[in-house]
Amino acid sequence: MDRIRISGGNELHGTIPISGAKNAALPLMIASLLTSDTLTLENVPHLADVEQLLRILGNHGVDVSVNGRRESQAESYSRTINFTCRTIVDTTAPYELVSKMRASFWVIGPLLAREGKARVSLPGGCAIGTRPVDLFLDGLQALGAILEVDAGYINASAPKGGLIGAHYTFPKVSVGATHVMLMAATLARGTTVIDNAAREPEVVDLAKCLTAMGAKISGAGTRTITIEGVASLSGARHRVLPDRIETGTYAMAVAMTGGDVVLEGTQASLLENALDTLRLAGAEITETESGLRVVRNGNRIQPVDIVTEPFPGFPTDLQAQFMALMTMSSGVSHVTETIFENRFMHVQELARLGAKISLSGQMARIEGVSQLKGAPVMATDLRASVSLVIAGLAAEGETIVSRVYHLDRGFERLEEKLTRCGAIVERVSD
Ligand code: EPZ
Repeated sequence: MDRIRISGGNELHGTIPISGAKNAALPLMIASLLTSDTLTLENVPHLADVEQLLRILGNHGVDVSVNGRRESQAESYSRTINFTCRTIVDTTAPYELVSKMRASFWVIGPLLAREGKARVSLPGGCAIGTRPVDLFLDGLQALGAILEVDAGYINASAPKGGLIGAHYTFPKVSVGATHVMLMAATLARGTTVIDNAAREPEVVDLAKCLTAMGAKISGAGTRTITIEGVASLSGARHRVLPDRIETGTYAMAVAMTGGDVVLEGTQASLLENALDTLRLAGAEITETESGLRVVRNGNRIQPVDIVTEPFPGFPTDLQAQFMALMTMSSGVSHVTETIFENRFMHVQELARLGAKISLSGQMARIEGVSQLKGAPVMATDLRASVSLVIAGLAAEGETIVSRVYHLDRGFERLEEKLTRCGAIVERVSD
């Protein structure tokens, strides 16, 4: 199993290209199930989660070609991919595939909308929390879907004539359930209004793509999204938006090591809250023509408290990275996680590097230390593992991060991007 070896202590200087967003690419790819025409997505990152979803979509009948070549020949990154689903050949998403990646459960929306039926395995829990699917099921039922649970699967069927538009208010904000409702409602009869919808940029990106495919959607990016159902959708060409979590991660890395880096191809508007927090902590962040410039010169990082919240709040997907940064602040800070109940697995690993963190329920208290020291650590989930890489970059001596397959799910060419900026990072295979 691969590990990442880091010799810490170098500042970062240079340019890091920001990839297309994983969490936008996944629902956009799933949207290809809604049409028999070709959906072309540009700027799709080359990540393990994307490859896994390609397999899942293939199972339903989606034909994939990458940059005009067959999928298996493509090795480049941030690719243009054509998805064509002339007919849905299988409406079952089996446990073996869904259990490997939670977002694959989202196929339930398009399958139900286009074929009137779906049999989709329940995804089960994951390392960061129990992550139920009740909101998906309530929302689809509001559109008239008939659902039953059978041997770990949801058997879903639409009423005769298809799903029916409805007014539905989510009791809690869910990114995934908003994606699914949005996709399902595009082909429903009549008007659907989704209240308390997720406002994440990835939801807006999906709505843009669906609109290019002929859907009638207004209000994406606000709490209320309105969808006028249409009889069918067509193909489209759409560019995946930049990855705001990758952007924030590298910004935090620079804040932690010191240095001067331009994050190319990204936009401040995708993560204003996190950038403002980083500015309070002492990083200088400016927008440039090509993206964002992040500078930290010498001064010690200031402690800042954060609470994770749905967009536009501080993102849970940057919580671990920010905590890594706070381990070397000049005082005491607090990090409160409100989205996932078990998203503090990085705490014990950061402690192995010398961080002083105590946990009380959903809040972590971090007492900054002047220097972390390298150690072997273990990645536990995608964002937790990159927080260990960031900490390792700033730590004195050698840090070895094992179980890096977590990183490969969401960070495209991490070692290469960091090495180009002066970090000493290499992947070692056993
Ligand atoms: C998306 O997950 C992201 N994944 C997550 O990123 C991200 O952390 C999360 O949104 C929050 O921003 C993708 O986009 C692929 P939710 P999702 O439904 O949609 C609860 C990463 O590292 N909930 O918004 O699964 C749920 O348990 C990943 O890239 C219910 O209670 O998250 C959580 O507490 C990790 N019932 C909260 O809502 C439901 O039916 C928000 O989850 C659904 C969700």
